[in-house]
Amino acid sequence: MGWSVSGTKGARVATNAAKPGPTGRPDRFIPVPPKLDRHGPARIIAMCNQKGGVGKTTSTINLAAALARYGRRVLAVDFDPQGALSAGLGVPAHDVPTIYDLMLGKVKDPREVVQQTETPRLDVVPANIDLSAAEVHLVTEVAREQILAGVLRKIAPDYDVILVDCQPSLGLLTVNALTASHGVLIPLACEYFALRGVALLIETIDKVRDRLNPMLELDGIVATMYDPRTLHAREVLERVVDTFGDKVFDTVIGRTVKLPDAQIAAKSVLDYAPSNAAAEAYLRLSRELVERKLCA
Ligand SMILES: Nc1ncnc2c1ncn2[C@@H]1O[C@H](COP(=O)(O)OP(=O)(O)OP(=O)(O)O)[C@@H](O)[C@H]1O
Ligand SMILES: [Mg+2]
Repeated sequence: MGWSVSGTKGARVATNAAKPGPTGRPDRFIPVPPKLDRHGPARIIAMCNQKGGVGKTTSTINLAAALARYGRRVLAVDFDPQGALSAGLGVPAHDVPTIYDLMLGKVKDPREVVQQTETPRLDVVPANIDLSAAEVHLVTEVAREQILAGVLRKIAPDYDVILVDCQPSLGLLTVNALTASHGVLIPLACEYFALRGVALLIETIDKVRDRLNPMLELDGIVATMYDPRTLHAREVLERVVDTFGDKVFDTVIGRTVKLPDAQIAAKSVLDYAPSNAAAEAYLRLSRELVERKLCA
């Protein structure tokens, strides 16, 4: 609630009009999601943008941790051979079964691959560099685009939401992620050329919907690395909102060194720097996801 001084006596009067947030919409309070009295099956969301370094992994980690904080059972799937999600959540990804073994059918039950994190209710399917070979192996497989969908179907009943951290490409692995998902969330860094490539990504989403996965929805676009002090970031965000309208989440993730620091410490920012604005931003993003009915 904003306050303004009005009248000659200078009385403080409460105004209901919330100040505009970075997207130009009111910076309103988003309510805490209701408790779930039953769990699963999960809605599956691909965190996707073929541009590198836009905040896919950071957003997967922290959104997952935020949803878990609100009582959701969350599975984060590392679907990038770089293994940054596994490292960022502090789970081993070497000398353990990984998503690669599931994709190749070497391990049949995903529960054998799932690892618990320090965050209650947040589990991870790890990945490592082996996954880069999967793309080659899968090319000759029957229904090669549907392999991840088959893997996640087996484990979806155990969770409320599954977030898939995609690699920065639109290759076969990403197509598998889109085929396995109900929705796609696009993290977009507020930087030069942010929109470059998004048209191609949306074209790919449309093709996957037409040919492989009719239920696939564009859940929305999350602006990341936003620095309100630079005119440039403000202009980029304005363009993004002009182009995508309500698909852009009200919640914008600001630029802060606490996010890379948390990743190095192998923790979510909620645990690493709970009073930092980024922790509240990811909590708010998770509330907005529930409010938009994109997750239980
Ligand atoms: N809001 C932010 N403020 C500052 N730094 C950030 C922010 N979000 C992410 N970063 C940092 O930017 C780098 C890239 O982020 P991240 O790894 O999440 O991107 P990505 O899209 O997953 O990258 P890739 O395409 O390589 O998988 C990381 O070092 C991360 O810690
Ligand atoms: Mg990443």
